[in-house]
Formats: sequence, C-alpha cells, structure tokens
Amino acid sequence: MKYTVLLPAAGSGKRMGAGQNKLFLELRNIPILIHTLRVFERDPNCERIVLAVKKEEKAFIEQLLKEHCITKVSDIAEGGEERQHSVYAALKVSSSKGIILVHDAARPFIHQQVIQQLVEKANTSGAAVAAVRAKDTMKKVENGIIQETVDRESLWIIQTPQAFRYTILEKAERLAEKDNFLGTDEAMLVERLGERVHIVESTYDNVKMTTSEDLLYGEAILNKREQ
Ligand code: CTP
Ligand code: MG
Repeated sequence: MKYTVLLPAAGSGKRMGAGQNKLFLELRNIPILIHTLRVFERDPNCERIVLAVKKEEKAFIEQLLKEHCITKVSDIAEGGEERQHSVYAALKVSSSKGIILVHDAARPFIHQQVIQQLVEKANTSGAAVAAVRAKDTMKKVENGIIQETVDRESLWIIQTPQAFRYTILEKAERLAEKDNFLGTDEAMLVERLGERVHIVESTYDNVKMTTSEDLLYGEAILNKREQ
C-alpha cells in the first residue's frame, strides 16, 4: 500500500542542548535526519517525502539531500513555531490525497513492518498510530503527592509514525487551526473530530532522539542492527 510521508524537521533541539538543530548531529558519521530519510527512501511503498524545515536551514538541508542521494523529497515547506504548525505546513504543500504518514524526523529507527501495518490500518479505518505498552508503574501525581495508581493495562506510549486518510488529517488540522487548538500529536487533533484512532504495536527501539543519552542508545541500536 502506497503512502506519502510528512517529516517535520523544523525544531531547534533545545533538550538535546547541542546549540544546533539536533537532526544535524551524527550517528556513525551520518546526520540523524539522513538516517530517517533513508528509511523512506528505501521503502518502495513510500511515494514521496515532504519535509518541513526552518527557512535558514533549507539550503543546508538541500545540500545534505544531494550529498546522501535522497531523491524522494518532492516538497519542502517552511516549518512553524510549533511542531503542529510544521506538520500542517507540510500537508498544505503536499499534493498527495491518499494515505499520509506523519513521522518525527528525530526517530530514525522505525521498522518498515510497523510502517506498513500503519498504512494498511489507516486505509481501512482512517487513522492509526504507533504505540508501545507502558513498562513502568504509572501514577497520577499532584503537588508531589501520589493521587492514584493508574491501571497500566490500558496505558500505551504513543510514538510516530501516525497514519491517516488525507481527508481526515486535513480536516483535523484545519479545525485545530480554526479553534486555536494545540495538540501534542496529530492523533489528538483527529480524536477531537470524534474519529476513532487505532493503535499499531510498535517497538521500544523507535526512540526519539531528544536528550544526549538518546544518542548513546542510538549508536547501540545501530551496532546491534549491524550484527
Ligand atoms: N519540529 C518541527 N517544528 C517545530 C518543532 C519541532 O518540525 N516547530 C520537529 C522536530 O524537528 C522533530 C519533531 O518535530 O523532528 C519532534 O519534535 P521534538 O523531538 O520536540 O524536536 P525539537 O522541537 O527540535 O526538540 P526540543 O523540543 O527539545 O526543542
Ligand atoms: Mg519540541
């Protein structure tokens, strides 16, 4: 099943503390952004890649694409203040009307198999997101005091990719903008429409490169995959 992927890459990586967009940091001498792009470059079902980038980083990113022979990037949108704005900007410049996958450029280790399951589920049901079961005991805390222990059985940690039929994502983004609603992921915007969002079980190694420890983890994942 074919799809288009939107890759928001217009963040600043504040929590990484590298003084630059964390997507330019390298794992095994290759920028994180390129690791992520390669997943989709290699997937025959991925028809095109749409990036959202900061205006001042566009030329550098275009250079990286050339250098690393990434050919599927069809459009580059100007990112916004928040991740949600960047995703909507990418959606607006994309000409695709089929299945749209939204994936953080900062998650380079997503498995092809999970992508395919998401795309198929979005095709049959409208919306599907990658998720893993919560491993730790989860408690609700207010002012430093535990209020309750939440039943872990029903708790899932949500990742990207998140896959949607174009019409659902477009409506969700448009209404969120109209209502000035800011969500932490696309699923939240779709949930507001009363649409069902399905989950597809993903893997714990689909980690988002967020803080400096994640880079160590990233190197370890690459080492393991090469064995
Ligand atoms: N992103 C984006 N536009 C923004 C903010 C984030 O396109 N205004 C992208 C990031 O580049 C990243 C993805 O959304 O690929 C997930 O965001 P996050 O991990 O939070 O990255 P940053 O916002 O860059 O990091 P931080 O929050 O630590 O500053
Ligand atoms: Mg952020």
